[in-house]
Amino acid sequence: MKGIILAGGAGSRLYPLTSVVTKQLQPIYDKPMIYYPLSLLMMCGIRDILIITTEFDQPFFKNVLGDGSRFGVKIHFEVQPEPKGIAQAYLIGEKFLNGQDSLMVLGDNLFHGDFKPFRAAVKQQAEKAQGLRAQVFAYPVTDPERYGVVEFDKKTKEVKSIVEKPSVPRSNYAIPGLYLLDGSAPERVRNQKPSPRGELEITDLIQTYLDEGSLRVEVISRGMAWLDTGTPQSLLEANSYIAALEQRQGFKVACLEEIALRMNFIEVNDYEKVIDNTPNSPYRDYLKVILKEYQED
Ligand code: G1P
Repeated sequence: MKGIILAGGAGSRLYPLTSVVTKQLQPIYDKPMIYYPLSLLMMCGIRDILIITTEFDQPFFKNVLGDGSRFGVKIHFEVQPEPKGIAQAYLIGEKFLNGQDSLMVLGDNLFHGDFKPFRAAVKQQAEKAQGLRAQVFAYPVTDPERYGVVEFDKKTKEVKSIVEKPSVPRSNYAIPGLYLLDGSAPERVRNQKPSPRGELEITDLIQTYLDEGSLRVEVISRGMAWLDTGTPQSLLEANSYIAALEQRQGFKVACLEEIALRMNFIEVNDYEKVIDNTPNSPYRDYLKVILKEYQED
């Protein structure tokens, strides 16, 4: 199972913040935004990861994450020449995917909570249970018109339709930017036509799986936070959410070094080297506390 993070786009809704740095490297409290989607992939056990960015921004991401080795993962980079829709990621990533299944997360989507449903979905996908080829999630929101929306049959609970940003949503279930698709995704996108707004829509790609009966949609509800960070208001809210949690508990959300250690992606001596190479900072102090805790466990 491979991982993709799509972190392209102009981030125009965040201008002039995005004239300083691209959206997915903006701060979410004490870490760059990209840490959060990357932490999700890592916590699902995924270690081979492609990050897609604009050509201009790629060096900044490389500067922040390197090749991923300090987190025990392998990070590859590709450029999205022009933003032509989310499904374009599968064309850009085709060589990297090499026919394998993937979990793609959008670089501005932030999840927090118990990732058990995501981990279970990854496992199911790998086992190719019952002709299953694709899985997405449905999350209740108060503003579904901003998202891809799933309509369920009232009686059978089966998925009836998937519509991108409907002006009149048929449900309040939005599809978060997290997609588990099989190795046929690139080929499907090649046969796809751009939407009236000129984009290769992710919802059209998902629809191909729905049409052939190989899609599973899992409803995620209480106990999981899904925040998107594309507007100044939602960015502020995501910052406040992480700040409140971290201040209260003393644990960090999406500390990649900690996750690498706890997932056994790196050994204790690698972790110690990472601490040595981390600038003297509260973040470094935290890494030390975690090591002590880990060794006492
Ligand atoms: C995209 C997708 C949409 C999805 C959303 C999740 O929209 O097109 O289906 O629900 O991401 O964040 P965007 O936020 O790029 O407008």
